[in-house]
Amino acid sequence: MTPHQRKIAAIVSRLLEWYPRNARDLPWRQTTDPYGVFVSEIMLQQTQVKMVLGYWNRWMRSLPTLSALAKASPQRIHKLWEGLGYYTRVRNMQRAARMMVKEHAGKVPSKLDELLALPGIGRYTAGAICSIAFDQPAPILDANIIRVLARLYGIGSDPRQAKAKTELWRISQELVQRASSMNGRSGVCSQFNQSLMELGALLCTRKAPRCDLCPLARVCFAHQEDRVADLPALAKRPKPTARWFAAFVVEDKGRFLVRQRPAKGINGSLWEFPNVEIHRKANMKKAARVVLGASARSIERFCTIRHSITRYRITLDVFKVQTNLAGKPSRSGARWLTQAQARRLPFTGAHKKILWMRGSERLPTTVH
Ligand code: ADE
Repeated sequence: MTPHQRKIAAIVSRLLEWYPRNARDLPWRQTTDPYGVFVSEIMLQQTQVKMVLGYWNRWMRSLPTLSALAKASPQRIHKLWEGLGYYTRVRNMQRAARMMVKEHAGKVPSKLDELLALPGIGRYTAGAICSIAFDQPAPILDANIIRVLARLYGIGSDPRQAKAKTELWRISQELVQRASSMNGRSGVCSQFNQSLMELGALLCTRKAPRCDLCPLARVCFAHQEDRVADLPALAKRPKPTARWFAAFVVEDKGRFLVRQRPAKGINGSLWEFPNVEIHRKANMKKAARVVLGASARSIERFCTIRHSITRYRITLDVFKVQTNLAGKPSRSGARWLTQAQARRLPFTGAHKKILWMRGSERLPTTVH
């Protein structure tokens, strides 16, 4: 064995020993149903485990099979996804489910290239499904695994660049291939890939790595050379950009004016209160008139909601507005709904907060 092969073998055997004793008990790890794995991997794209926990269980109870997902209404799937963000994922997931029903006899395919041909499934997700659901030696690489491998192998260039990425994919492939060649264990590729994820999530973290507990410390370049804090050498991301929006809560006899966003684009098809992007010091009466198509008789601040989407730090100022709209739909697509009716619809994350506000900050209703 060359030193390189010895290192590969050491990483694989140590991680496989470490994993069963340290893995978190995550609900999707209780199933080998490829559909359940598919759902979990789509939910886990760009979203943290702790956020996904409740969503996965609820989803699997509501839509337990591919064919149930393929047949579900857009409103149902959006409601189940409400709050997870990046809603293109849920629409692609249903398109993928329909393709699997039509082209793969209602099953999640087990071949990497068949998975890659489905909408919303990239190299990472295809590799995760192939290895976790079908125990095949398919590599995976996401931010956590980039960090683990860049430290283990001392990859000093920016891992988002193509050359470093190619090298990291190659190492990930070599590792899982080695795992698959260890005889006598079923589920070894699944366990190995999940052990890489787990190490990145629990010990080999960006800010507070626990090398003292790490089963790979002795074979880790960064640990041996005292370079853990400098690796991976990620180039700085552009600074977040601040944006301001104003939303208007208009009420008439216990009904509120709400509207559905267009199907395409950010938060496509979700519901929201009428709103507009503003300059920081915009004239709110004017903004309300533009958005509502009616003059505001009075306008009063209701609350402020801060949230982030990708690199944008968004401040949403919410106003209670009195108008003479009186139950008329002001703009196409807008509807007057009671709070209870609105709460049954999928709202965007920020506007859901307005809708579900409690205590003294409940939606303002006037008594008639
Ligand atoms: N991140 C992406 N896929 C994951 C999985 N299956 N378990 C834990 N974290 C993940």
